[in-house]
Amino acid sequence: MALFSSSTRHIPPSAQMPAHVAVIMDGNGRWAKKRFLPRVAGHAKGVELVREMVRACLERKIRYLTLFAFSSENWRRPQDEVTLLMQLFVKALEQEVTKLDRNGVRLRVVGDLSRFEPRLQALIRDAEARTETNTALELTIAANYGGRWDIMQAVNQLAQAMPDKQGNWEEGDIEPYLSMHFAPEPDLFIRTGGEERISNFLLWQLAYSEFYFTPTLWPDFDTAEFDKAIASFQQRERRFGRTSEQLTGQTDA
Ligand code: IPE
Ligand code: IPE
Ligand code: MG
Repeated sequence: MALFSSSTRHIPPSAQMPAHVAVIMDGNGRWAKKRFLPRVAGHAKGVELVREMVRACLERKIRYLTLFAFSSENWRRPQDEVTLLMQLFVKALEQEVTKLDRNGVRLRVVGDLSRFEPRLQALIRDAEARTETNTALELTIAANYGGRWDIMQAVNQLAQAMPDKQGNWEEGDIEPYLSMHFAPEPDLFIRTGGEERISNFLLWQLAYSEFYFTPTLWPDFDTAEFDKAIASFQQRERRFGRTSEQLTGQTDA
């Protein structure tokens, strides 16, 4: 019974465009270092690539794009870099939201926002409210986000909501409380920058995503690179535990 209630029982076809792409945008620091620039120059360039990626998703009718911008572990970086990253986030919200709105993009920010300064929190709330009725693309920025934090905050909410069912909770019970509850699980997960790890990103939701790792640094990850990732995804056979023959209809499913 438990097997068949798994959230991964539905098989989305991979020959099509992914409906949801999740990205760890890594390599900004190294991109800057190669050019003898300060790390923050890499982050600034990275914002431009976010713009390009949003455009590419709109053109390709990819419905959900989720970007890891700042992890719960990134507070461990030098104070200067953290401050500059926050300033960049504020600037991006101030400058981009009108354009996002005009293009039908709904913006959400997921993560523990309580640690951000009040001005940034207000900008986030305002951007989310302004774009809330848009449907062309659901752009989610994960900021001060950690996959373990997400699961724990969901469990805590569930414990409040369904105390009587404790000990018998099922996968479907927790899902409404996870930060990404509004989106299907990512079809395609991309990490740029050469590292092949999840770094505490969407732990629950990546259970059956297709992974694509590239050494290309995020500031170099342009539309052509994105299309390579999509082409790789479209070659994959997503089996979700079944056999290849079951999927191609060669045997009874
Ligand atoms: C990713 O680039 C952006 C953030 C984590 C904010 P990095 O800053 O991690 O770049 P590298 O890995 O040092 O090159
Ligand atoms: C992961 O990148 C988080 C973001 C891209 C925001 P990091 O570069 O911080 O990851 P680790 O710590 O090297 O794995
Ligand atoms: Mg990095």
